[in-house]
Amino acid sequence: MTIPRWQQVVLILGLLVGAAAILAVPDARAKEKKEDPAVERTRNQVRMLDDLYKTAIVLVTTHYVEEDSDLAAGDAFQALFKVMKDKGWHEVRLLDATGDPYDDDNSPKDDFETRAVEKLKAGESYLDEVVTKDGKRYLRAATAIPVVMEKCVMCHSNYADVPKGQAIGALGYTIPIE
Ligand code: HEC
Repeated sequence: MTIPRWQQVVLILGLLVGAAAILAVPDARAKEKKEDPAVERTRNQVRMLDDLYKTAIVLVTTHYVEEDSDLAAGDAFQALFKVMKDKGWHEVRLLDATGDPYDDDNSPKDDFETRAVEKLKAGESYLDEVVTKDGKRYLRAATAIPVVMEKCVMCHSNYADVPKGQAIGALGYTIPIE
């Protein structure tokens, strides 16, 4: 028995559509996971905040901090971070990566902070992960702080022993994903 030509064409087209659908489904899922627009927007917020905070800390240190008894940008910014947290915007932690912090509160505390500091010390400049707390999603992110200028060593004498370019600290963000 021979199958009419038009039926052969329909059969082949059917197989092609079926194969395309099977191949497309996992691909679409992977894409959805990678490109969650809310997570991307939150990452962008981290990039913006990181530029803002780090630029301001460096400017304050450059222009206002002359001796080790002056108010450190680190101290001033802890006060600013507290206001941002109290107002419900986001949380930022100033983290130590040397094992010898000025203030023990700045040692990495939980699993994410510990892992982040290890990775940043090993040369990565950024990492993040999505967490869920009380049914709400948050982006936890960490960015490296290198020794950006000589003046840093005036108060943190241990930075003198850190290889050039290696992270001595981090900013750790917890930002609601909206
Ligand atoms: C005038 C002294 C002073 C200078 C200069 C200074 N810091 Fe600090 N730094 C401090 C103090 C004080 C703290 C503790 C702040 C707190 O948590 O209350 C601190 C905290 C930190 C921390 C958190 C870990 C820790 O040790 O507690 C990092 C990271 C840090 N500073 C990096 C820097 C960098 C980078 C520079 C140079 C741009 C710098 N500091 C310059 C005094 C200083």
